[in-house]
Amino acid sequence: MPDDWHRSLIVCFVFSLIPCLVATDASQVQFVYSGFRDANLSLEGVAELRSDGLVQLTNNSDVKGYAFYPIPVHFRNTPNGTVQSFSVSFVFGIRSAFNEESLDGMTFFISPSKDFSSAFANHFLGLFNDKTDGSSSNHVFAVELDTYKNPELKDIDDNHIGIDINSLISIQTGKFTNLTLGGGEPMQLWVDYDAHTLQIMATLAPLGVAKPQRALFSATTNLSNVLKEPSYIGFSGATGPISTLFYLLGWSFGINSRAPAISMTNLPKLPHGHQKSQSVVLEITLLPVGTSVCVLALGTTIVLLIRRRSKYAEIREDWEAEFGPHRFSYKELYCATDGFSNKLLIGIGGFGKVYKGILPATKLEVAIKKVSHESRQGMKEFITEIVTIGRLRHRNLVQLLGYCRRKDELILVYEYMPNGSLDKYLYSQEKPVLGWTQRLDIIKGVASGLLYLHEKWEKVVLHRDIKAGNVLLDIHMNGRLGDFGLARLYDHGTNAQTTHVVGTMGYLAPELLRTGKSSPLTDVFAFGVFLLEVTCGQRPIHGGGQDTPFLLAAWVLQHCYNGSLLETVDWRLGGNYHNDEADMVLKLGLFCLHPLPTARPSMRQVMQYLDGDMPLPDITQTCLSTNLLSMMQHKGFRPSILSYPDLSTSAATFSGLSGGR
Ligand SMILES: *[C@@H]1O[C@H](CO)[C@@H](O)[C@H](O)[C@H]1NC(C)=O
Ligand SMILES: *[C@@H]1O[C@H](CO)[C@@H](O)[C@H](O)[C@H]1NC(C)=O
Ligand SMILES: *[C@@H]1O[C@H](CO)[C@@H](O)[C@H](O)[C@H]1NC(C)=O
Ligand SMILES: *[C@@H]1O[C@H](CO)[C@@H](O)[C@H](O)[C@H]1NC(C)=O
Ligand SMILES: *[C@@H]1O[C@H](CO)[C@@H](O)[C@H](O)[C@H]1NC(C)=O
Repeated sequence: MPDDWHRSLIVCFVFSLIPCLVATDASQVQFVYSGFRDANLSLEGVAELRSDGLVQLTNNSDVKGYAFYPIPVHFRNTPNGTVQSFSVSFVFGIRSAFNEESLDGMTFFISPSKDFSSAFANHFLGLFNDKTDGSSSNHVFAVELDTYKNPELKDIDDNHIGIDINSLISIQTGKFTNLTLGGGEPMQLWVDYDAHTLQIMATLAPLGVAKPQRALFSATTNLSNVLKEPSYIGFSGATGPISTLFYLLGWSFGINSRAPAISMTNLPKLPHGHQKSQSVVLEITLLPVGTSVCVLALGTTIVLLIRRRSKYAEIREDWEAEFGPHRFSYKELYCATDGFSNKLLIGIGGFGKVYKGILPATKLEVAIKKVSHESRQGMKEFITEIVTIGRLRHRNLVQLLGYCRRKDELILVYEYMPNGSLDKYLYSQEKPVLGWTQRLDIIKGVASGLLYLHEKWEKVVLHRDIKAGNVLLDIHMNGRLGDFGLARLYDHGTNAQTTHVVGTMGYLAPELLRTGKSSPLTDVFAFGVFLLEVTCGQRPIHGGGQDTPFLLAAWVLQHCYNGSLLETVDWRLGGNYHNDEADMVLKLGLFCLHPLPTARPSMRQVMQYLDGDMPLPDITQTCLSTNLLSMMQHKGFRPSILSYPDLSTSAATFSGLSGGR
């Protein structure tokens, strides 16, 4: 017997454009459709056979559609025998008009009749209505592909497969997290019934993946007690208030034999286009008054349910599973921030808005940063990096507690830093002036946080946007580096021509401007600017708008050259600082700003200089070198860098990215 159908299969493949029907004897119905072009199917409801060979079961919201094998099938050898083993496989695709929200679902089913005119689309997947659901007189076996969670039907989630006998309350369901039925990608499902063990096995895989060894789940039921003789086999698709398109690409079936393999190469393609647009199609029909109140209430509930679902909708992908503990639910963060209320807004920057929040479960105060992103490209690497860094713990890094991802939006949850960012203390009148010791402690803290990023992790983590605005102060006024790695999100590719320079104007190393490539030494450069900024209490560039804006580094360098370095120290300190220390920090700052990257110290050396473990090389000599001065001025700080050809368009981005929180 197997030989027979192997031969038939070969014939099938040879003529695989033509649906291949093989029926050797009464007990052995077998067929395969690799695409449905010109197939003789029996279609009911809104289902249609498209010219490209796809069966489209539904075309709108609140509709139902069916596709049946045209003749009823005998499942028993003799009228009062038992139901024989059978096997079915099919390729399907579900496309929703609204993102990845799809309602309600589709089924493969076996039924004594093709008449489903009294069935509801919504809720009962086009098979039953509220009266017939659960009745043993249905004689229906179905495999549901459910994309909506109906709690009253005991659905486990909005993405499951279930075995149904006469009712949409499944006798067994299969849960999976790595595939999304409504995700728009074609998948293949196999269902095998074994007449001897009475086991039904369901196996699911993405299109093109061979049938996995392990079934998704199995159920045990004696179908001899369910099915009538003969019965129709087919599919139902049913939508609720969101227009969802249920497609069939291929189908094979066999009684007492394996379902023949569907030829993947001949399958039609799922259509592209508007199916993924955002519009929600909600249709509420107003009926005459008496009943309309009830209908409206129901409608409103459904609308609210959908709103609620899309309001909290998130994006998850299989690779994220390993980051499970770091994943917050959107709902949790929504509650924590009073629905991202403006009252809780604590900062707006180029990366997005930052809110103060209180996590409902733990009452922990957190800073919640909403970052918008358009492309999914590189998202995996980015989140992997962010989350890996999130696992790093250092007392001078703002701890990342977790994240949540939605369409076009990434939400990062950090420890809350009650004292805000350092730039406020340097430049705002409202905050107290920080004393020298505090400043030096903050500098050392930030240096040690940056060293940790550069060296203590198995791979180098670049900060890419070091500046006073990204240094946050904890309750003890320790400096903590925030936003590490975030700039990467805007850093596409390695091609210097197309690289989008990331960072903040005034902190960008000359070679970064030239090549667009960040390195630990570009971080060191920015750290050098930061040292001057904190010591002098001045922004790296100001007086913009004039032809020659004030450039802090050039000004300090000039004073170094003139031997009046300490005149640059912040006047607000009123002279209360240690001359040696301030002198050392300023010179170290200049050292870090060396126009030749390789001449700059590493963060490890910076730490040693700051801790006094190693004397700073005599950079006065360096300062005195007029060559170097002119080189620095030319390469590093001349406003002319603003007119680098490839930067003209990015200039806005620099300032756009400069906000932290
Ligand atoms: C389709 O199948 C049905 C049932 O076998 C048959 O009556 C009908 O003639 C077929 N139609 C075509 C066009 O082959
Ligand atoms: C869906 O199909 C039905 C029946 O074929 C048709 O009457 C209806 O206009 C279609 N609706 C849409 C939105 O295409
Ligand atoms: C088997 O079915 C036939 C006709 O359908 C019926 O007459 C007969 O009584 C049945 N036999 C048994 C043992 O149920
Ligand atoms: C999905 O996860 C299940 C277990 O949870 C695993 O057996 C299966 O291989 C996974 N499938 C894919 C496509 O990764
Ligand atoms: C399944 O049910 C039929 C009809 O009730 C019965 O004859 C048969 O023995 C059952 N099969 C098994 C394996 O129990």
